[in-house]
Amino acid sequence: MAEGENAPRRYAIQGWRVERFAVLDSTSEEAKRRALAGDPGRLWIVADRQTAGRGRHGRDWRSPTGNFHGSALLVSPCAVTDAPQLGFVAGLAARAAIGDLGAVGVALKWPNDLVVDGAKLAGILLEGWTFAAAPFALSIGIGVNLAFHPDDLAYPTTDVSVLVGRPVSVREFLERLAVRFEERLAMFARGAGFAAIREQWLAAAAGLGQPMRATTAVGAREGVFEGLDPRGRLLLRRQDAIETIESADIALLGAAAVAPPRKKV
Ligand code: BTN
Repeated sequence: MAEGENAPRRYAIQGWRVERFAVLDSTSEEAKRRALAGDPGRLWIVADRQTAGRGRHGRDWRSPTGNFHGSALLVSPCAVTDAPQLGFVAGLAARAAIGDLGAVGVALKWPNDLVVDGAKLAGILLEGWTFAAAPFALSIGIGVNLAFHPDDLAYPTTDVSVLVGRPVSVREFLERLAVRFEERLAMFARGAGFAAIREQWLAAAAGLGQPMRATTAVGAREGVFEGLDPRGRLLLRRQDAIETIESADIALLGAAAVAPPRKKV
């Protein structure tokens, strides 16, 4: 789409540039294009609507107008090997921003989901690129069901308007998110502060100490969610052994799996 037909509104929040588009294929795809073009980072790319919104593991992400779709582009925010830890930074920031709006009971589900009583409210997608002779760039894509939630997925969902009892605009949410994200980024301190981030994340974790099923590339196994290792990997207790899991889809099987009544979209 030509720039004139879909020119973004440009402004600044918290020392970050913001570009807000009416429509994009995916804010994370746009972040990638910007990274390839040498953007210096500290850029929020926001789209009212996405035509090819994507989630983890190549799934699609429903992206209707009214929900929040934004990607934060960062350049060299930490060592490449620590980049997954920024998912916890973003999860805490999104949870705090939603809490600022008056929502209660929002928990963090490993690795990067926000849930309320087992129903998904938001998801985070990390994508990083290392280009020849250029710094490492990372997109943190955040999708939040503000006004709508899909009702036909394999898992329960909810949205912020249900939680706070009023409509919340993309602009209002981004203003709060940008503040909270900057706070948590400062705490992360390019990776040196991950222990504090990990502690805060665990205090808000869904399903800690409860049974869960982790589905990885090599199959599914059940155990008890024991915690996170110092790098943020999931610890699953099975009989007497603790397994360290780097990447998986998680199903909570205990009390945290209970879903509230759903609103029809
Ligand atoms: C997930 O839970 O699977 C992650 C969903 C991430 C969705 C967001 S919406 C903004 C950004 N652009 C995308 O295409 N995806 C992320």
